[in-house]
Amino acid sequence: MTFDLAIAVAILGAAGVVPADRVAEPFFLGELGLDGRLRPVRGVLPSVLGAAEHGDVTVVVPAANCAEAALVPDVKVVPFADLRQLVEWLRRGEDPPEPYIEEIQEPPPPTIQPAVDLSDVVGQPVARRALEICAAGGHNLWMVGPPGTGKTLLAERLPTLLPDLEIDHALEVTAIHSVAGILPPNSPMLSRPPFVNPHHTATAAAIIGGGSTVVRPGAVSLAHRGVLFMDEAPEFPRNILDCLRQPLEAGRVTVSRSAGSVTFPARFMLVLAANPCPCAQPQDQGESCQCSPTTRRRYLGRLSGPLLDRIDMKVTVARTSRRELMADRQFVEPSKIVAERVLAARERAAKRLDGTPWRTNAEIPSTSLHADYRPSNAAMKCMTHALDSGTLSARGLDRVLRVAWTLADLAGKPAPEHAETSTALALWLGVNT
Ligand SMILES: Nc1ncnc2c1ncn2[C@@H]1O[C@H](COP(=O)(O)OP(=O)(O)OP(=O)(O)O)[C@@H](O)[C@H]1O
Ligand SMILES: [Mg+2]
Ligand SMILES: [Zn+2]
Repeated sequence: MTFDLAIAVAILGAAGVVPADRVAEPFFLGELGLDGRLRPVRGVLPSVLGAAEHGDVTVVVPAANCAEAALVPDVKVVPFADLRQLVEWLRRGEDPPEPYIEEIQEPPPPTIQPAVDLSDVVGQPVARRALEICAAGGHNLWMVGPPGTGKTLLAERLPTLLPDLEIDHALEVTAIHSVAGILPPNSPMLSRPPFVNPHHTATAAAIIGGGSTVVRPGAVSLAHRGVLFMDEAPEFPRNILDCLRQPLEAGRVTVSRSAGSVTFPARFMLVLAANPCPCAQPQDQGESCQCSPTTRRRYLGRLSGPLLDRIDMKVTVARTSRRELMADRQFVEPSKIVAERVLAARERAAKRLDGTPWRTNAEIPSTSLHADYRPSNAAMKCMTHALDSGTLSARGLDRVLRVAWTLADLAGKPAPEHAETSTALALWLGVNT
């Protein structure tokens, strides 16, 4: 385990095998094999960050963890492959061998982008626009439509609209993936927003976080600062879907176990996709789908009201005829063009939110939203009506306000006007198509 090495050197120091003062200063991390080899461990980045905060400047790590430890600035990383080498080093009392820091602090090689692009998708202008809004403000999206209409295709392309992670967010994301033990060994710093798509048969521990001995971050945390895509959403167990409410509200998730509870960051863009009925057969051609209206209602009803309340936008993805698809082909925009608009909108939001802990509209908490970012009365009017008539919930109102700000950012307006609030309301209600 992680503390093997620290325990071993403490014993060696106490027994006089190595000078006791030499083991007092460095921070030791690593698992020890029975043959004395140092094995890599999980969570090196957050541990070394913690050590650095505590004032430790020299960290001794297994060689395989060297690159990850060296992501932390102003720390001397001393890697060893086995205990024997480490003991010799401690005995000789030398300075750490001039470490690998320089070579490692070169910028990591650019992450290879998956070869997907928004231009792969033809038509579906409403869903495309919703993806753009999602990307610009960090919002959530639910897409309903018959099989083969491009829901999965669209969701998989959301990351191509997002800018690289800023350095502090990259460190957060990398730390979580480090704790999960899934960092790529050679270029450990993750600089792209993650895209995580758990299958509906995944366990609650895999999605929310958990584990029997060590608590591991689940998909909701691995998707932190990125996209959590739940395809065929009604197929997920109800208890798992309901567990999404806490991270959607708070941007973090608490995993409780008998031994105590652990909180992981979990601020992601949730994208849910669903067929309108359980048989997944086309229903607009007449013959295939035999599901009754009740069956269909019950199927989509697996997503509870409180969960849907927290989904910013609901769009219907309709089947398009071949002729429409051919005609639409020329209007298809590539990810690069859309990503430029997304970036411009994000910069506007970040400027407005300068001096706050938030960078995107989705992060603005309810209190601040109402105190500091309330649109004009004229712009609020449609929402007041919807609240009075009971079509809009209080939680829904916050969602609508955040999306309205993002629409204003995309339009280059200083604040949402009626056009933005009414569009945002229609998107929340899912009556846009
Ligand atoms: N709008 C579209 N533009 C281009 N190709 C499309 C489009 N819609 C569907 N396709 C084609 O159909 C295939 C299925 O699309 P996709 O898996 O995204 O549909 P889906 O809506 O997720 O369906 P299901 O509900 O069955 O999962 C894609 O691989 C693609 O080849
Ligand atoms: Mg699909
Ligand atoms: Zn059906």
